[in-house]
Amino acid sequence: MGEEQHPFRRSEAFFGRRKAKNLSIPQQKLLDELLPKLKFDVEAPSIENLANAFPHNPKKIVLESGFGGGEHLIHQARTNPDIGYIGVEPFVNSMAKALSAIEEHNIQNIRLYDEDATELLDWLPEGCIDRVDLLYPDPWPKKKHWKRRFVSQKNLTRFARVLKDDGIFHFASDIDTYINWTLNHCDEHPSFEWQAQSANDWHTPYENWTRTRYEAKAIREDRTPCYLRFSKK
Ligand SMILES: C[S@@+](CC[C@H](N)C(=O)[O-])C[C@H]1O[C@@H](n2cnc3c(N)ncnc32)[C@H](O)[C@@H]1O
Repeated sequence: MGEEQHPFRRSEAFFGRRKAKNLSIPQQKLLDELLPKLKFDVEAPSIENLANAFPHNPKKIVLESGFGGGEHLIHQARTNPDIGYIGVEPFVNSMAKALSAIEEHNIQNIRLYDEDATELLDWLPEGCIDRVDLLYPDPWPKKKHWKRRFVSQKNLTRFARVLKDDGIFHFASDIDTYINWTLNHCDEHPSFEWQAQSANDWHTPYENWTRTRYEAKAIREDRTPCYLRFSKK
């Protein structure tokens, strides 16, 4: 979401907008009826075994923070039915779109959260996630707004806490200053190690990749996608 809109502060996060346009009746129905069945209740006590939140007791669980149009989340969940996916997105219209796809394709391996990802990260038990995906997070390109970026030492510590010992953090962006920002933050953080061996690594999309809406926009506007991979150490 652009920084020209007026973000409101909920917990620690900055969001552009939570709701852009009126929802259709079917979308509202999905938000009222399907979302409560799939979303985590962070007011309840935390869950001991996260796999129990899914019907198929997955061995691997991936969390995507800020899934936007849901292209990547839905593609991943459909092509890896054995894996459990957690999608987080506070923007209501995007959540409604993801719910439509979940219903249309009868997807069983997605659980959701519709507020600030930091709230869910603080609620989840330690060491329960195999991979965190942060794909094209809001760039906050103006220097005076950089501190609003999702990548911070505090949020990296949140990722590190929920990741399993051999967990992975994926960060994709087309914004040079955010890519450098993330490399520097992970370098300074005790729990993350950049996995790159050669320049090819950050030009190569992740396995089973599908283009997100923001990546398509970046390419249209002549910016180069960069795919960073960090392992937990
Ligand atoms: C630039 S969009 C990218 C969306 C999508 N990942 C893509 O590549 O098309 C960033 C998304 O992150 C979401 N977001 C921003 N702050 C967030 C937060 N604190 N927790 C969860 N999602 C957040 C926004 O609502 C927005 O949908």
